Amino acid sequence: MKIIVDSSQVVTPSGGRQKGLALGSLSLIPQGEVAIEDGRIYAVGQKGELVGRFPGAERISAGGNAVVPGFVDPHTHLIFAGDRAVEFEMRLQGKTYMEIMAAGGGILSTLKATRAASVEELVSQAWERAHTAFRFGTTTMEAKTGYGLDIETELKMLEAIIQLNEEGPLEIVPTYMGAHAIPPEYAGNPDGYTRFLVETALPETRLWWQARVPGASLPFVDVFCEKDVFELAQTEAILTAAKALGFPLKLHADEFENLGGAALAARLGAFSADHLVKTSPADIQALADSETVAVSLPGTPFGLGQQEYSPARAIIAAGGCLALASDLNPGTTWNESMQFIQALACRAMKLTPAEALAASTINAAAALGMEDRLGSIEVGKQADLLILRVRDYRMLAYRYGTNLVSQVIKKGVVHPVG
Ligand code: NIG
Ligand code: FE
Repeated sequence: MKIIVDSSQVVTPSGGRQKGLALGSLSLIPQGEVAIEDGRIYAVGQKGELVGRFPGAERISAGGNAVVPGFVDPHTHLIFAGDRAVEFEMRLQGKTYMEIMAAGGGILSTLKATRAASVEELVSQAWERAHTAFRFGTTTMEAKTGYGLDIETELKMLEAIIQLNEEGPLEIVPTYMGAHAIPPEYAGNPDGYTRFLVETALPETRLWWQARVPGASLPFVDVFCEKDVFELAQTEAILTAAKALGFPLKLHADEFENLGGAALAARLGAFSADHLVKTSPADIQALADSETVAVSLPGTPFGLGQQEYSPARAIIAAGGCLALASDLNPGTTWNESMQFIQALACRAMKLTPAEALAASTINAAAALGMEDRLGSIEVGKQADLLILRVRDYRMLAYRYGTNLVSQVIKKGVVHPVG
């Protein structure tokens, strides 16, 4: 047994996912204590309460600082080779993201580098980013494939995700995203590539996965539903086939144009619909009336230098379950820090610090279907917590650009990071 003592406050959402105006309801115990046993939260109490109950337990000092749940980042493109600094400069000079993609850059330039990389190279490049995210407080991260777009490279990316997850301490949740772009082999033939995904890639990926990690649940399947990438009908065909094979679903929807992806995700029972910049009021309502979590990625418009963000307040007002994620990727937003995402969400989308924290913990866990195990400091949950180096959790959103985490506790193991 370990007990976190000497905190300024233990702050956490409690009682499951937070829909609509419930977002941001936090329990705050001044100078609270947390007992951890076997990688789980054993008890949460007032100052002196748990050290009194368990006098022999090892003590972890919070040094007079705040304790919050570990962040969950439910949307990243963690695995890739190389970088796209050249395209960043092109965008600053006026080219748009979609123009660069149409000219063969963008996702396709990362595709070339990723196809050429070995599994070991992918793991070592992604490890550096995963480790950075962990030091900044992310204890669980979703990671997508989607820079191979042929069976061999997509499986290589899944293999890299499996190896990184096994290595730890960051827990990584896999998503298969063969539908991230139209590969060069199918240029001008999105229907042909859609058929390949439905008839060949999805069934083969499922077989490979079941042989590679027997008994593990299947990865999510995600599609980039966007004009000139996968249109709505193609997206529906891919997601419907994936669902029939037993894959849980996610969707990139309404990043640049509204094709109706958010309503489709809600109708198909996807775990989340992500981006949601151009989402219509009717689609916001469809999401709010469903179990599908609305994942907002404010790092993406920020990274692209765009002014338009998800209508987060409208999503909350409609009763939606709003989560935040980084979208970490080499094209639109290379950022590993969920602290920065919270700071940005407060300014660009008018969230309160409490809302931003809940959207980065319990609701982010809900976007992965893991809110029973992750996302709050409650008895029985996995002991994934952060000891900050500041006394007030609101500093996470208020003070930005530096790392406010001093110790990351993952499955009960303490990792000093700051
Ligand atoms: O979520 N929109 C598609 N995928 C990523 C960008 C990937 C890339 O440009 O490499 C996104 O923004
Ligand atoms: Fe993305």
